[in-house]
Amino acid sequence: MAFLFLTGFLVGWFARPSGVQHDHANDSKLLDFLNEIQADNIRQYLRKFTQLPHLAGTEQNLKLAKEIANEWEKFGLDSVELVSYDVLLSYPKPEQPNYISILNQFGNEIFNTSLTEPVPEGYEGVSDIVPPYNAFSAKGQPEGELVYVNYGRTEDFFQLERDMGINCSGKIVIARYGKIFRGNKVKNAILAGAKGIILFSDPADYCAPGVDVYPSGWNLPGRGAQRGNVLNLNGAGDPLTPGYPAKEYTYRAEQDEGVGLPKIPVHPIGYSDAVHLLTNMGGPHPPDSWKGALNISYQIGPGYKGEFSKQIVRMNIYTSNQVTRIYNVIGRIRGAVEPDRYVILGGHRDAWVFGGIDPTSGVAVVHEIARSVGTLVKKGWKPRRTLVFASWDAEEFGLLGSTEWAEENAKILQERAVAYINADSSIEGKRSDVCVYQMYLIYIQLNSMKQMLEISSPEPGEETMTLYDSWHKRDNWTNERNAPRISKLGSGSDFEAYFIRLGIAAGRARYTKNTKTERYSSYPVYHSVYETFELVERFYDPSFRRLQAVARVRAGLIFQLSDSQLLPLDCVEYGAALHKYTLNIEAIANRHPDAISRYNVSFDSLLNAVKNFTSAAQAFHQRLNELDRYNPLEMRMVNDQLMHLERAFIDPLGLPGRPFYRHIIFAPSIHNKYAGESFPGIYDALFDIENAPEQDKAWDEVRRQISIATFTVQAAAMVLMPLA
Ligand SMILES: *[C@@H]1O[C@H](CO)[C@@H](O)[C@H](O)[C@H]1NC(C)=O
Ligand SMILES: *[C@@H]1O[C@H](CO)[C@@H](O)[C@H](O)[C@H]1NC(C)=O
Ligand SMILES: *[C@@H]1O[C@H](CO)[C@@H](O)[C@H](O)[C@H]1NC(C)=O
Ligand SMILES: *[C@@H]1O[C@H](CO)[C@@H](O)[C@H](O)[C@H]1NC(C)=O
Ligand SMILES: *[C@@H]1O[C@H](CO)[C@@H](O)[C@H](O)[C@H]1NC(C)=O
Ligand SMILES: *[C@@H]1O[C@H](CO)[C@@H](O)[C@H](O)[C@H]1NC(C)=O
Ligand SMILES: *[C@@H]1O[C@H](CO)[C@@H](O)[C@H](O)[C@H]1NC(C)=O
Ligand SMILES: [Zn+2]
Repeated sequence: MAFLFLTGFLVGWFARPSGVQHDHANDSKLLDFLNEIQADNIRQYLRKFTQLPHLAGTEQNLKLAKEIANEWEKFGLDSVELVSYDVLLSYPKPEQPNYISILNQFGNEIFNTSLTEPVPEGYEGVSDIVPPYNAFSAKGQPEGELVYVNYGRTEDFFQLERDMGINCSGKIVIARYGKIFRGNKVKNAILAGAKGIILFSDPADYCAPGVDVYPSGWNLPGRGAQRGNVLNLNGAGDPLTPGYPAKEYTYRAEQDEGVGLPKIPVHPIGYSDAVHLLTNMGGPHPPDSWKGALNISYQIGPGYKGEFSKQIVRMNIYTSNQVTRIYNVIGRIRGAVEPDRYVILGGHRDAWVFGGIDPTSGVAVVHEIARSVGTLVKKGWKPRRTLVFASWDAEEFGLLGSTEWAEENAKILQERAVAYINADSSIEGKRSDVCVYQMYLIYIQLNSMKQMLEISSPEPGEETMTLYDSWHKRDNWTNERNAPRISKLGSGSDFEAYFIRLGIAAGRARYTKNTKTERYSSYPVYHSVYETFELVERFYDPSFRRLQAVARVRAGLIFQLSDSQLLPLDCVEYGAALHKYTLNIEAIANRHPDAISRYNVSFDSLLNAVKNFTSAAQAFHQRLNELDRYNPLEMRMVNDQLMHLERAFIDPLGLPGRPFYRHIIFAPSIHNKYAGESFPGIYDALFDIENAPEQDKAWDEVRRQISIATFTVQAAAMVLMPLA
């Protein structure tokens, strides 16, 4: 039904205000743009940008920033600048490497984990490969008995403490990577009282069945390990300057007061080392769901059994934090009609080592999009609105470059930014029979989306099929709209500050695995030294047509958002999503029927606000049919309503305990930063509520959160109502 309301207003979308009237959208410019994007260029950029390690804060990453800035200028962007900040980063000490050891009863180190990963063929001479480490780990040499905590999730610790009766206080815990953001594992370990946490990659999570390890296949080798930061920033950006840009003049907190810095040592290892630490552990046998794919019993501990019972584990961690200069590259193409409205395409440049997939499969794509836009600009075209290109630094250290820029520009962005499209890794799946494109975005108009998916499928043998059809064939969606599934945005990449702090409509799109059939986490060699150009070229995308397709989807998004006369955002769909989220959260609350009635908890007001929102959205889209498209002020007024809609979901006070997560509809889950939670305030208030010590207080908080959500949804509805 919504679709009928909308078709009318699609007409004339691309018509220039000063042009002749057209009955149909002019999509030939869009096609010109998408056709300009070449797989071979993406291949070359990926090759060029993955030659050397380019960790944030290093000389090499600054060099890369300058190179990108130079080329963007040559491509024809109107202006390009480097923007620097001084943020807290964290590096291992070259002269005092980190490792973990097993101590015998005399205190001798009888086993040590490896200090580095074996370097892949062709890269032997490369220096500056940072060894596997967890950035922002505390320093220290804790010793203790080992406890195996499965994935280190909230539910794993509940099971450990409540069902198995194991107390992690004073222990060193060992968790497998996967399922959730590693920083959440660390936080859970700290809450459980652990004095250190070891993170390992289990083959169950980092090796696909029947696939060889790199370089003969794309699985993680036994001595490969996953780097990554372990902060719990909750959107704060630089730990020492939360809320403010880390400029030279900025006041900095003391290092031990920094936001989100863990107080215990953390260190990552591969499965060849993990097997040594885990073999001979004693204690209870684990449930099946706790067993990985190593040939060991996965006993929980604490400590070792039998003749090994005197052994303990020691972590030797010397990583240190230091304030370091980082550089974003910001390029602009000034809008021809509405230069004060911005559409941002941003992705990070810094990598743990070569960054073959993360982030350079995204960097190469952004580069090719910039070149293609530049080609149009050189032919005399300008987008209606200003296009901003961003190459962020220090994403791997907590989304620092993007968050600092968002902080510095917050006042103008909240007045002027129309949308933010993120461009991190472009690919994470491999098998063409199951892999799908995944979109996470904010209710882009269906027609607008379809229009940009009318490009040819990148899959071998499907050359005559469109991406839309190829995608449909694999994802097999069956919803009413006949539209691709749209996932919720969580966090874990640079859209966070734009969407969740500032309330700017945001989206991302990439080629991903089918999570129903592919059980490995992210992709096997994620954040290891094996993320090379060859990994992508040999295994993930030999023709580079998948990356080309991702480039075209991202390019299509920024084209539609920056050049459509009317912003291609669909409020009715937003309303439908709000309705669905409300029913979900109500169902969660209804698991406690007695408390619901005892404490008089009701979702009626929220449902009523959602109903008001939906009718306001429908009426809004209907009014668009009567719009005078040649009246620029009228167009501007409705576009501003569309732009401000996302802003209306921001609560300036933020979520409880998380002042930089301010979006009332979406936030990263407290239990897993990578996942998005809808109505996070209510969800968190309900979480594990049956174990809350003071039931009446806990349910009071639920009611308070429902009222905040009700107010916010109603306030958003008001944004869409007639202007006078
Ligand atoms: C549509 O775009 C094409 C390609 O740029 C251009 O030649 C044509 O004049 C445009 N058509 C209209 C109706 O604006
Ligand atoms: C582990 O490393 C320490 C410090 O370098 C060394 O003294 C010890 O002998 C090593 N142990 C083994 C088994 O290699
Ligand atoms: C766990 O052990 C610590 C220290 O021994 C103790 O303070 C704490 O109360 C214990 N926790 C539980 C739940 O037993
Ligand atoms: C697993 O370990 C056991 C005991 O160490 C050994 O006997 C067995 O051969 C191993 N199985 C495999 C498949 O390696
Ligand atoms: C797609 O989904 C429909 C409805 O659930 C089902 O009947 C059909 O078999 C599915 N097709 C494929 C290829 O999975
Ligand atoms: C329960 O809430 C309803 C509406 O939210 C209100 O009318 C009613 O008075 C409340 N009852 C109690 C016992 O608080
Ligand atoms: C929904 O709209 C009606 C009619 O304007 C209004 O009376 C009601 O208070 C609104 N609901 C909320 C939750 O604000
Ligand atoms: Zn990344």
